[in-house]
Amino acid sequence: MTQLLHEINESLDVISRHTSARPDVAIILGTGLGGLAEAMDVSTAIDYAEIPHFPVSTVESHSGRLLLGSLADRSVVVMQGRFHLYEGYTPQQITFPVRVLHALGARTLVVSNACGGLHPLYRRSDIMVIDDHINLLGDNPLIGPNEPSLGPRFPDMSEPYSRRLQQLALDAAISLGFQLHRGVYVAVAGPNLETRAEYRFLRTIGADVVGMSTVPENIVARHMGMDVLGLSIITDECHPDNLAPVRLEDVLEAAAIAEPRLTKIIQAVLPSL
Ligand code: HPA
Repeated sequence: MTQLLHEINESLDVISRHTSARPDVAIILGTGLGGLAEAMDVSTAIDYAEIPHFPVSTVESHSGRLLLGSLADRSVVVMQGRFHLYEGYTPQQITFPVRVLHALGARTLVVSNACGGLHPLYRRSDIMVIDDHINLLGDNPLIGPNEPSLGPRFPDMSEPYSRRLQQLALDAAISLGFQLHRGVYVAVAGPNLETRAEYRFLRTIGADVVGMSTVPENIVARHMGMDVLGLSIITDECHPDNLAPVRLEDVLEAAAIAEPRLTKIIQAVLPSL
């Protein structure tokens, strides 16, 4: 057995000691978006530190726990806190949890994130469903030997975010009376925010929002054939000709304002996932 499969099994063993749940939906909560956990009926919480081979989150705004339980009557596993390239981990390390959630039985991945809005009509605390992405991380979690039992060497990326799931989210937003944008997420390594020239460049190449996560997780999920729903919270407006400095407090505040809407959208789509 390869090292990767061995490590996945070791993580799975420890999770299985805590719970016999095998949820088929996994949710990753982004910066300042931990609140969904409060709407959840949590039956098991496991610190990442207890799970072998899981990195440990180094970002204050991210707690590091795996939650299992139910949300909208659906069995789910939730990552409360995620990992980023800028923390110094490799793309393989930051996506290892997605491999484990798949091994646990998850076939749908819901990812959320905080991001900067490049589209001139996007406002702070708006939500965008991700239709497509651009990988500007300069790295890729699939580089290295491929494990064929997990997925193909050259995974297709013609539909990185399920159109069916996007439509469910858009329909849910309409019924709930919220506006939901649909657009393109570009991933950069960070951790610094972008310069004005970089924002101009990112807009020119076709991105609607910019962030520092999500893309590696999506690539690994698609490698394994999982369906992905991506939801981005716009936490700051990146308009190069009128750019205000961004503080982490403002990002967290904008995420907190949007969080109840994000939770409602996820709850509304869960029964159909
Ligand atoms: N750029 C990159 N990542 C971000 C931003 C941004 O403006 N806002 C929140 N995450």
